[in-house]
Amino acid sequence: MKLLITGTTGRLGGVLVRHYTSRYDLLTPGRDRLDLSKPESMTTALRDMDFDLLINCAGITSPDVCEREPELAARINAEAPAVMATECQRRGARMIQISTDYVFDGETEDLLDETLITNPVNHYGRTKRDGETTVLRECPEALVARVSWLFGGSNGPSFPDQILNEVRQGKSLQAIGDKWSAPTSVHDIASWLELLWQKMPSVSGPLNLCNSGVATWQTYGQQVVDFAVELGLLAERLEVKGNRLDDFPSFIARRPRHTVMSNARLAELLGHPVRSWKEALREWLQSLCAGA
Ligand SMILES: NC(=O)c1ccc[n+]([C@@H]2O[C@H](COP(=O)([O-])OP(=O)(O)OC[C@H]3O[C@@H](n4cnc5c(N)ncnc54)[C@H](OP(=O)(O)O)[C@@H]3O)[C@@H](O)[C@H]2O)c1
Repeated sequence: MKLLITGTTGRLGGVLVRHYTSRYDLLTPGRDRLDLSKPESMTTALRDMDFDLLINCAGITSPDVCEREPELAARINAEAPAVMATECQRRGARMIQISTDYVFDGETEDLLDETLITNPVNHYGRTKRDGETTVLRECPEALVARVSWLFGGSNGPSFPDQILNEVRQGKSLQAIGDKWSAPTSVHDIASWLELLWQKMPSVSGPLNLCNSGVATWQTYGQQVVDFAVELGLLAERLEVKGNRLDDFPSFIARRPRHTVMSNARLAELLGHPVRSWKEALREWLQSLCAGA
């Protein structure tokens, strides 16, 4: 099977390559061969590539950059995925579009399932929502995989790396205590995606891919510190103090507050409960100890 994966210099795409490289033929074009900011150039570029499955991990992922550069964000996050979907539909290839919990407004404390109407509060969320809509319009059999608060991999520091670095630099620890989501392991996502396209090729539409459990940035950060102490990555336990989302005037884009997605549909497809973010986080931190 031939896979085309975009965004492989990023957190998720990089891990997908590591997971799949020994078992599949991979095409991993960077922006020099497939530039999502120029959707009009992409049809020709894609037609020259041989693939049966396209996983689109590329995008502008910073809400503040999307707010500052709305047209660029719309091209990369919405128009480019539509071109990919059109080409997948034309050649009968499968498409997986990676999306986000930020398609929701975060106004309800309930778990967010796939049937809920999206209502993004910032331009990042709007462009990702538009990407979902256009992909499913062009390629109705596509899978739209919504993920949240990614950790793991080695392409740039994720939140746990930042916390560990701050402790090592002797900084006091602070993180937002009134914004909730589900931290999710990119390694788990790699396994779920493979299972989905291998064993359940007819699963399509939006699907939440997140670990179980809820966190704020503060409780997430504290858990990182506690596991790191337990595993010998840090010498002493420090407290992560909570601050408020509203205390971040430097944020350009408004952030949704409660975006904990339900993974009930994923659990049903897997045939077992989805493991917690804490278990996945501990395992990943343990792999750092082992130098894996
Ligand atoms: N990170 C999270 O916590 C999170 C949460 C929810 C949803 N998601 C979604 O998950 C997906 C993957 O996120 P991530 O954290 O792995 O992203 P990331 O680390 O920010 O990486 C983004 C990738 O997109 C590529 N890209 C950007 N502009 C491009 C262009 N014009 N042409 C071609 N490639 C371009 C980047 O390539 P360059 O290296 O060339 O810039 C990079 O490989 C995204 O769809 C994101 O919306 C992420």
